[in-house]
Amino acid sequence: MKTRITELFGIQHPIIQGGMHFVGLAEMAAAVSNAGGLGIITGLTQPTPEALAKEIAKCNKMTDKPFGVNLTFLPGFANPPYPEYIKAIIDGGVRIVETAGRSPEAYMPAMKEAGIKVIHKCTSVRHSLKAERIGCDAVSVDGFECGGHPGEDDIPNMILLPRAAEELKIPFVASGGMGTASQLVAALALGADGINMGTRFIATKEAPVHENVKKALIAASELDTRLIMRPLRNTERVLTNPAVEKIVEIEREKGASLGIEDIRELVGGVYPRVMQEGDMDAGAWSCGMVAGLIHDVPTCKELIDRMMSEAETIIRKRLEGLLAA
Ligand SMILES: Cc1cc2nc3c(=O)[nH]c(=O)nc-3n(C[C@H](O)[C@H](O)[C@H](O)COP(=O)(O)O)c2cc1C
Repeated sequence: MKTRITELFGIQHPIIQGGMHFVGLAEMAAAVSNAGGLGIITGLTQPTPEALAKEIAKCNKMTDKPFGVNLTFLPGFANPPYPEYIKAIIDGGVRIVETAGRSPEAYMPAMKEAGIKVIHKCTSVRHSLKAERIGCDAVSVDGFECGGHPGEDDIPNMILLPRAAEELKIPFVASGGMGTASQLVAALALGADGINMGTRFIATKEAPVHENVKKALIAASELDTRLIMRPLRNTERVLTNPAVEKIVEIEREKGASLGIEDIRELVGGVYPRVMQEGDMDAGAWSCGMVAGLIHDVPTCKELIDRMMSEAETIIRKRLEGLLAA
């Protein structure tokens, strides 16, 4: 399948693996890229730019296909040395960056000068248009269904994607809730040039996370995610567990007066404990509603091949078959 996204990134299939904290390591990115998609290393999971340089070098040894690095621009209070992370990306020979969080505007000149293609992930049409204006090559449009931070507008992809198609000139991929061939075909029908998946890629053989995480995704239904931190305007979709239910309760009690200190121990430092140690109740961790559609743990290649071949069948048989001769 050839789309503006496969052309832009030089990949075989229009499927991207979004940056994921403590999941997007070299093993994950290389497995997706080797399967013909676009794998992405999560920059800030590496504690320093030097550590990121090592992770990129490791990935370069594991694949000769293109892969990218995610740079998440965090809200005000945390300020990692972004210029040094960008230098590690450029020096490592990576030419694709997925940005997310705040606008990447300040860093665009440095990235463009190095020939980097930038795909900005955002949750609204207005932020997508801003990304287009500042020179991003593509956007990843993240609907309300998504695992992680869906923003504050709560627009699901059935509306957000065709709205993006109405307004954008640059290519975009559908992100949030994606996990099956029928959704890929639907996203293409709605105007996207491919899809971005997060949660679905965690339940793959190569995902470098504890088996408990993969089991939890298979056990979960579409009803098992919760939205937290809305009063802080930093809404996050997470898989429910006793710690998350506690957060929801605290948020209900505190209402608009909620501060980050009220829930800090339930949201801070959780990722290594969940992803590496398999302590599923350690706190809140991002997970999308697509958990309800995850029923197995294939390799990345099995997953992508299956999706592409089923997509072809849906297009050729089901959709074409609906048209009167
Ligand atoms: C466990 C987990 C961690 C994530 N960490 C990040 C991150 O550090 N930076 C980022 O830009 N997006 C992050 N995301 C969001 C994904 O890149 C992607 O946009 C999202 O998962 C898409 O929705 P889906 O999970 O429904 O596929 C994370 C998602 C998950 C599930």
